[in-house]
Amino acid sequence: MSTIKRLAVLTSGGDAPGMNACIRAIQLTASACNIEVIGFHHGFNGLLEQEYQSLHSHHVDNIIQRGGTILKSARCPALEQTDGPARAAEALQQLNIDALIVIGGDGSFRGTLAISKHYSGQLIGVPGTIDNDVDGTDNTIGFATALDTALDAIDKIRDTADAFERIFLVELMGRHSGYLSLAAGIAAGAEQIICPEFGTLSPANLKPIITPIQHAQLLKGKASYIMIVAENSYPGGTTALAEALTEAIGIECRACILGHIQRGGSPVGADRILATKLGAYAVEQLLQGANLMMAGEVNGEAVLYPLAKTGDRTKAIDPFLVRWQQQIGSL
Ligand code: F6P
Repeated sequence: MSTIKRLAVLTSGGDAPGMNACIRAIQLTASACNIEVIGFHHGFNGLLEQEYQSLHSHHVDNIIQRGGTILKSARCPALEQTDGPARAAEALQQLNIDALIVIGGDGSFRGTLAISKHYSGQLIGVPGTIDNDVDGTDNTIGFATALDTALDAIDKIRDTADAFERIFLVELMGRHSGYLSLAAGIAAGAEQIICPEFGTLSPANLKPIITPIQHAQLLKGKASYIMIVAENSYPGGTTALAEALTEAIGIECRACILGHIQRGGSPVGADRILATKLGAYAVEQLLQGANLMMAGEVNGEAVLYPLAKTGDRTKAIDPFLVRWQQQIGSL
């Protein structure tokens, strides 16, 4: 058992729908255990600058349904400087913070681990990113909402693609991982899905993606054709890929970059529940003495996973769906 009197929380990196629901669960759980909660603003920047607020129950009223994060988020180059982690630990100590909860992705967890070298309190992570690229949890907070947002957009693109019998390349976020692209591509019935996991595309090696297009044309004639392209799949981006394809096959290919729309919006039910569960679990586990762990969910159960292993990239995009998409000739 651990005695925690003062707990801090921050949201870091790309914001994800459900972060507010998680902050709410942390505040409510901590309050129920008579723990004072503060929230740092703008990720680790707020910690370094000691920019924070007390979090009381009225601060978390009516935020479960809101996208973004009431604490604001940011990336923090200052934490990567040589003295950054020690300065952050010093700030935590000065403010008498017994434990810190970081809601973010594996980059934010790397920062947390760096701070741990200088900090005697407890540190725990909660996975919040639309990318779902964090080991130790089946889903990250925000992924389910981003998937639905992407689907809504892709379905609309399908309508116009269908009307014009056009080829569209729709770029989805994911940094360097294809979780969102594979999931959205499958759910949208995309004709082709391009993810970094399937190898790198280069201007000299477009054949693997041209062949399925030509095959579909032989089979169906002129028809709508949607390719989901994970960002960072092609040098110069998806617009450059659309141009290269247009030239190679002689048919106009349109690019549509969905961009930050994927990070916004009210979290879907699954994200609100995951965020609530993991936020509450993180507080409970801190009280049990957990340190340098991430609160994740595997097979429906809340679990702890070493923070140091969250970025190992052992979690693979669904092999069954990859195999099926290959089987139908669309990868
Ligand atoms: O990690 C979340 C994410 O949205 C990635 O999918 C994307 O590559 C990145 O953040 C974009 O970051 P920024 O908003 O800083 O450009």
